[in-house]
Amino acid sequence: MQYSQKVLDHFMKPHNVGKMENPDAVATEGSPACGDQVSIFLKVDPQSLIIEDIKFQSYGCASNIATASIITDLAKGKTLAAAKQITWKEAADALDGLPPVKMHCSVLAVDTLRKAIKEYEVKHQLAREEKFTKDTIVEELRKVIYPKVGEDIVTLRMVKYAGFENGIATVDIDIPKIDKYRDNVAEEIREHLGKFPEIKEVRITL
Ligand code: FES
Repeated sequence: MQYSQKVLDHFMKPHNVGKMENPDAVATEGSPACGDQVSIFLKVDPQSLIIEDIKFQSYGCASNIATASIITDLAKGKTLAAAKQITWKEAADALDGLPPVKMHCSVLAVDTLRKAIKEYEVKHQLAREEKFTKDTIVEELRKVIYPKVGEDIVTLRMVKYAGFENGIATVDIDIPKIDKYRDNVAEEIREHLGKFPEIKEVRITL
């Protein structure tokens, strides 16, 4: 697999790595694509809401370490509002790109950062827990990467329908029958949506 020099640099010498004592917020997320995990710790200035310090611990692959490292660089010194806007594409671009099958590592890093920020905001009454709606499903499907091209299935217009009724999430996906990633995509959708307690069953049509 071809990695950029920047990915290798951040993998070999990751920035802001380690556990933080008494963080203001912490989040741990796992990638449904591979089972890898990452934790992100935040120290936030309560007046300015600037991220003063940020650390991560990785339990995953080289790209997991590199993307977590770059995301901490990108978020440090930013306000929570600005850090929330960092996308997985920006993180991958800041590493001079990632192989398509590794794009989900960047999704995981960004997702974990956003979860840590949300935890801080909810704890300090700056935000409320989001209510689950049908849009939540579409937002979650934006985190499912089609490994062949390294883009999410919503942007690729592979999602023909997404619905939610009586605890059942229904998703129709347009993917060729002979595509070798067919089962991966279905499994990943199932795992992403399965984490919401509101969803009792996931029905996928391919
Ligand atoms: Fe899954 Fe990198 S986080 S392979």
